[in-house]
Amino acid sequence: MALPLAVLVSGGGSNLQSIIDRIEEGSLDAEVRLVISNKAGAYGITRARNNGIPTKVMSHKDYASREAFDRDMVAAMREHGVIAPEGAVVMAGFMRIVTPELLDAFPNRVMNIHPALLPSFPGIHGQGDAAEYGVRISGCTVHFVDEKMDNGPIIIQAAVPVQAGEDGDSLGPRILKLEHRILPQALQWLAEERLTVDGRHVHVKVGPKPLAAQPRADSEPSAPALVWPPLEEGF
Ligand code: GRF
Repeated sequence: MALPLAVLVSGGGSNLQSIIDRIEEGSLDAEVRLVISNKAGAYGITRARNNGIPTKVMSHKDYASREAFDRDMVAAMREHGVIAPEGAVVMAGFMRIVTPELLDAFPNRVMNIHPALLPSFPGIHGQGDAAEYGVRISGCTVHFVDEKMDNGPIIIQAAVPVQAGEDGDSLGPRILKLEHRILPQALQWLAEERLTVDGRHVHVKVGPKPLAAQPRADSEPSAPALVWPPLEEGF
């Protein structure tokens, strides 16, 4: 069975789009059953609708607590067949901290994508904070989610060089391109049941396909990125 997914968005949804594209292409064995946004105008919702994916807009402002909001999200996921142990949840630009109401319903099956090399630069301005600090390498991280913001066991990271004088606006798009590769890759590992969590450590079982990063047509040839564990064919 294809991995049943609920994708949570708050904004543009380009990471959602990368999931949809990889599924369509056949490299990601998943089915997006539901897209939830806490923002009515999120373009991610339009992307879902354009692809015939059920959507739900839930404003967190209508709820008395984070727990009550998460309970309703879990109920909506259930209605759409996203249920543990098979189902999983992706926070793809979802600007909310989640609670055990969601996490306990999907143990080790909630992923987040963050635009910096965690544990450096958590929070909503990861790209800009890293550039302003003057780091020479930044990147992105996919990790399992726990109760703390941008915390939880790391699955895969990708690094990009940072030029002196860059800001979040120039760095952000380069990081985003890599986000679009490592998030679907991490999900495919989950779909193939190749991820084991041991405390803070995530082990990726070597798969049937050789571990060999293939450059994608839309990736930047001039900026070879370090991605670890390596991307497999199709990502
Ligand atoms: C991405 O940079 C993601 O890492 C961060 O929010 C942004 C969402 O972008 N958490 P999009 O909505 O997927 O285009």
